[in-house]
Amino acid sequence: MRFKGKTVLITGGAGGIGKAAVRIFAQEGARVMVADLSEKGCKEICSEIKAHGGEAAYLCGDLADKAYCENLVDHTVKAFGSLDILLNNAGVIPRGNILETTDEMWFAALNINLTAVFYLSRAGILQMKKQGGGAIVNTSSAWGVYPGPGHLAYCTSKGAVAALTKNLGRDHAGDNIRVNAVCPNEVNTPMLKTGFSKRGLDPDKAIEQLNGTVPIGRIAEPEEIAEVMAFLASDAARYIAGATIEVTGAKPVY
Ligand SMILES: NC(=O)c1ccc[n+]([C@@H]2O[C@H](COP(=O)([O-])OP(=O)(O)OC[C@H]3O[C@@H](n4cnc5c(N)ncnc54)[C@H](O)[C@@H]3O)[C@@H](O)[C@H]2O)c1
Repeated sequence: MRFKGKTVLITGGAGGIGKAAVRIFAQEGARVMVADLSEKGCKEICSEIKAHGGEAAYLCGDLADKAYCENLVDHTVKAFGSLDILLNNAGVIPRGNILETTDEMWFAALNINLTAVFYLSRAGILQMKKQGGGAIVNTSSAWGVYPGPGHLAYCTSKGAVAALTKNLGRDHAGDNIRVNAVCPNEVNTPMLKTGFSKRGLDPDKAIEQLNGTVPIGRIAEPEEIAEVMAFLASDAARYIAGATIEVTGAKPVY
């Protein structure tokens, strides 16, 4: 019960990695606030947690909306009395090189993957300072720290999340607030699978092929990323701050 008595806010909590994180934190005693665009997804995961005796609530909305981002921290504190851990996990992946990237794709990546993290971290750190500390875990990407091909807007936004994490980690370690990020390579989630479908590929076959490109033998399951997030948010990681942790099964970005 690493998170007994703690409140965690998880963005993208109805998605692949987010849902795995909601389950782990709730199983280990946290009160979980789920934030996601999908009302159906929020309802489902919160019902599941409550059915297992856990505590969860949700506020659905669009992270591209500043007011929604800024309200999430207040809403969490009103619902559960504190904000101890913030997981900035939600993300979108516009695909394309610069000539294929529309303004809409560019701003979707920047607004949802980066600016929402800024708004939420600013509100979250203000609250955590009042409480005497906390932890933030951001989701960057292996493709953020080593940009992969043909994903200009995505890689740029995730690279900026890595830089923001290092900045916040350094600026707020002295406030007893640890800020770190996970940088996964490919993870078996709807984000990855819908990309294959859009390109006309069979997602299961494409994943089988992708498994062969990873030195550890397979791409990550969402739980394997969520476990690292939980570790980074836990007291066991008390000396890790301002770090970007690569979770890649040893697969480099080509
Ligand atoms: N899946 C991968 O291969 C992979 C690799 C590296 C990093 N990541 C990162 O991990 C994080 C989680 O991704 P995932 O694979 O679980 O994807 P996912 O698509 O399964 O989940 C993302 C969630 O974010 C939510 N979301 C998207 N836009 C939103 C918005 N505007 N407002 C509120 N919620 C919104 C979606 O509804 C969804 O539930 C993302 O930041 C992603 O970039 C994923």
